[in-house]
Amino acid sequence: LPESGRRGSGNAGLRALREAAAGCRGCPLHENATQTVFGTGDAHARVFLVGEQPGDQEDRKGAPFVGPAGRMLDRALDEAGIDPAQTYVTNAVKHFKWAHEEGRGKRRIHKPPTLREMTACGPWLAAELVLTEPEVLVVLGATAGKALFGSSFRVTKERGSCTEREVHGRTELVVPTIHPSAILRADDQDEVYGGFLADLRVAARMLE
Ligand code: URA
Repeated sequence: LPESGRRGSGNAGLRALREAAAGCRGCPLHENATQTVFGTGDAHARVFLVGEQPGDQEDRKGAPFVGPAGRMLDRALDEAGIDPAQTYVTNAVKHFKWAHEEGRGKRRIHKPPTLREMTACGPWLAAELVLTEPEVLVVLGATAGKALFGSSFRVTKERGSCTEREVHGRTELVVPTIHPSAILRADDQDEVYGGFLADLRVAARMLE
């Protein structure tokens, strides 16, 4: 943005953006979600992390990555030496998309967002990037990757790399990795966690 367009930059800008996103009706997902889950972190954060969409607990609490996947992420960030105060954490889609589990049970099961829903949510992510101007952008999983780079994105191919990529018209240093919930689902959690940690260390090195 030109200087004149940056009056609301930094944390005040993020606060204004969060308030605006609370009333977003850009796609139908707001109808079944409890609230918009906007990004959290400081405008001067050096590392910007993008997940897929809020989960059940995030939907209830109104903050990203506060459930089981978030605990896995926090542990790996700590081990990679990335200070939480240096991170801005958000999702490609800001409302929880879910359906009731088949059969009995009231558990709300996450459903992947459609391309249309990811596209509708794109401007929020673009604005978060303008206001934070991170040094490194960490993409958590295939859905976030596809939301940012298109449907040809393959996380298995790209993970652990560190390349300049175009994101919403900006050039960002991008490190893709798996989604932390993939660790929770894995048979060999230690091995999958080790790979995740190695990818985060690639991002950490960019801050040295
Ligand atoms: N999974 C995500 O992708 N984002 C969250 O905020 C929580 C779980």
